Amino acid sequence: KGLFTFDPGFVSTAACESKITYIDGDKGILLHRGYPIDQLAEQSDYLETCFLLLYGELPSAEEKEKFASTITRHTMLHEQLNHFFNGFRRDAHPMAVMCGVVGALSAFYHDSLDIGNEYHREVAAYRLIAKMPTIAAMVYKYSIGQPFMFPRNDLSYAGNFLHMMFATPCEEYVVNPVLERAMDRIFLLHADHEQNASTSTVRLAGSSGANPFACIAAGIAALWGPAHGGANEAVLNMLEEIGDESQIDEFVARAKDKDDPFRLMGFGHRVYKNFDPRAKVMKQTCDEVLSELGIDDPLLKIAKRLEQIAIEDPYFAERKLYPNVDFYSGIILKAIGIPTEMFTVIFATGRTPGWIAHWHEMISGPYRIGRPRQLYTGNTQRDYTPIEKR
Ligand code: CMC
Repeated sequence: KGLFTFDPGFVSTAACESKITYIDGDKGILLHRGYPIDQLAEQSDYLETCFLLLYGELPSAEEKEKFASTITRHTMLHEQLNHFFNGFRRDAHPMAVMCGVVGALSAFYHDSLDIGNEYHREVAAYRLIAKMPTIAAMVYKYSIGQPFMFPRNDLSYAGNFLHMMFATPCEEYVVNPVLERAMDRIFLLHADHEQNASTSTVRLAGSSGANPFACIAAGIAALWGPAHGGANEAVLNMLEEIGDESQIDEFVARAKDKDDPFRLMGFGHRVYKNFDPRAKVMKQTCDEVLSELGIDDPLLKIAKRLEQIAIEDPYFAERKLYPNVDFYSGIILKAIGIPTEMFTVIFATGRTPGWIAHWHEMISGPYRIGRPRQLYTGNTQRDYTPIEKR
């Protein structure tokens, strides 16, 4: 009676069975539906990977084309939602706006509340994958006071996102294929990562029978923190704070000091105790983008030096703290011209198919409402004290 395991941070508790993603953190392996992440990053593309996550198999050429065309035809937002943005301050953090707008989608698509209906679930998945880049770009345009740009059906998923971010009604944005590919890879490399904090949040919210838009909004909220999706933004802020190569040793010493809460952002991972396989591909993409743009950024020199220290310094080696995916993605996004505050919004956009796939997997099978237990450490029972006696 009353016996259960105390496992803060769920370090050793499996809360579900899943067929979607496999990670071996010691060996640095990440598979989606059995396919290695590096093969997907090099040979597949984001939308195909979305299909794989959602349906369990790679699509045929015909299925791939149909899926891409369905997503393309769901990219616009309801006109009323465009006005919804005006309720936010323009200096709001983009994640605050994205969280609100995605949660509000359930007020527009009432069929999504009918989670028992397979067709409605599928349409909600299309809508989310299609509309997230539109919302992300609108969040940015709103913050800088520029008009929203409509999505364009003739562009790829990543190309369309760059267009909605950087084009204006006065000037077309010519999509550079190297940047388009890099953007697609950033989305793809973030597409799923099994039971991380935000995906577990989506499952927990979904276990009560909540609709998919509400569940994904909950996932976005969980992703925001600097220990999770907010890390890519925190990496850039940290590089800027370090400012100069001469300051690196001081920051590394702080990261090692147990009395100092400072940590090197973009290093370490709960699951990977080896090089994060996503970080390897991201590093290669980072090099491609920087050479294409001919950028010689002093922050990159700091980043490269930090990377070297982490590999050589015994503190990091003993604790198996390697640069993670967010260490490199932040640098790429900065080079593309995306402001730091938008980084986590882009992570959320990429992670959407993973969140939906997990939500769908859960509600398609037998499941129970998620309800962790606790160890109560508060007062024992005591009598209420009237206010005049306190
Ligand atoms: N800098 C310095 N020391 C660190 C760092 C770091 N970035 N990360 C972990 N450590 C130390 C930590 O102090 C502890 O040392 P000791 O054993 O002496 O007490 C040891 O390494 C183990 O750390 P932990 O906190 O027990 O590990 P965790 O699994 O609870 O945390 C983490 C994982 C990712 C939250 C953590 O490594 C961290 O805060 N990293 C920086 C933030 C970051 O880059 N997060 C993005 C993760 S990848 C994207 C995603 O999946 O969301």
